[in-house]
Amino acid sequence: MTASWTLSVARNDLADAAVAEAPVPALADGEVLLRVERVGMTANNVTYGVLGDAFRYWEFFPAGDPGRGLVPVWGFAEVAASTVDGVPEGRRYYGYLPPASHLVVRPDRVEEHRFRDAGPHRAGLPSAYNSYLAIPVDDLQILLRPLFFTSFMLADFLVDNAFQGAEVVVLSSASSKTAYAAAFELRDAGVRLVGLTSPGNVRFTEGLGCYDEVLPYDGVEALDPARPALYVDVSGRPDVRAALRQHPGLVGDVAVGLTSQVPNALSAGSVFFAPTQIRKRTADWGREGLDARFAAAWDRFAPVVADHLDVVVSHGPEGLRDAWLEVLAGRTDPRVGHVIAL
Ligand SMILES: NC(=O)c1ccc[n+]([C@@H]2O[C@H](COP(=O)([O-])OP(=O)(O)OC[C@H]3O[C@@H](n4cnc5c(N)ncnc54)[C@H](OP(=O)(O)O)[C@@H]3O)[C@@H](O)[C@H]2O)c1
Repeated sequence: MTASWTLSVARNDLADAAVAEAPVPALADGEVLLRVERVGMTANNVTYGVLGDAFRYWEFFPAGDPGRGLVPVWGFAEVAASTVDGVPEGRRYYGYLPPASHLVVRPDRVEEHRFRDAGPHRAGLPSAYNSYLAIPVDDLQILLRPLFFTSFMLADFLVDNAFQGAEVVVLSSASSKTAYAAAFELRDAGVRLVGLTSPGNVRFTEGLGCYDEVLPYDGVEALDPARPALYVDVSGRPDVRAALRQHPGLVGDVAVGLTSQVPNALSAGSVFFAPTQIRKRTADWGREGLDARFAAAWDRFAPVVADHLDVVVSHGPEGLRDAWLEVLAGRTDPRVGHVIAL
């Protein structure tokens, strides 16, 4: 394999994934060349592909061929060449990256430990994805940082809205990192937490210890009809949402994810999109206030999650492709977190 490559997928068939050589991008003044070093792969990345057109995820890292796309990943990259003061060669940054060997960024608002990519094609895309942070390399951060940030903001959003009056919060894909991290955040919020999951993942999900009760997807009739319940939908399964809507206590449903790969958020009562709540809390608390609250929550969560997550490291572009295909097919054990060293 050459030193420079991309892993693209067919936009209309995410299982058609191919590694191809690519020229090492040339640098203009004001630009920095990042070499992508270490990234994670979870169902969240698959969602970027499923919603690539609707939520413009294909536009972050254009593939060149309109029929194909580069599914964004999160992880660390090292500065391979720089024309920008304050972003020196050899420094490592965490952020939103292409499934590729390299990325050219145009740093703006350069601070000691962060910058933003002001590349013109990213200007109209949600700004939460455009920050690069110089933080220590850590596999838990690679896998969980963006998910936990969502879970943290989701928990905050639910509390902020008084759970729409519910006493019970039902989360689907309860075995996913996004769902269980939110459940950990909500443990002392005064609501009963019920996890819904696939039959094969019930035991793992119970073992997390963050839900008051765990039910298989076909077990929703066990919910107490007398207690108002809010459905937080991380799976997106239409049949599960339909079953929940038969529940007499349902006060609302919030679409968060679609691990089932069925984009049906438009039929949900409301849609949670983390960047919207991030903007609200940045206005309320300031960026530093939000960062401090997030850091405190992460410090509570990281030691707990370490007991429930086995980091599995694979290597190179083929390792990245294999991890993509495995996660896409839903074959990954919820205990496993895929990290790829490139
Ligand atoms: N709204 C937002 O801002 C936002 C932000 C971050 C993440 N999310 C979403 O949250 C969801 C979870 O992401 P994650 O990275 O936390 O997931 P993850 O930890 O990789 O979740 C794995 C779980 O997802 C379910 N699953 C995985 N592949 C599947 C498949 N092919 N078919 C059906 N179910 C499958 C299974 O759970 P069960 O058996 O328990 O169903 C599996 O244990 C994603 O859809 C992601 O996009 C949303």
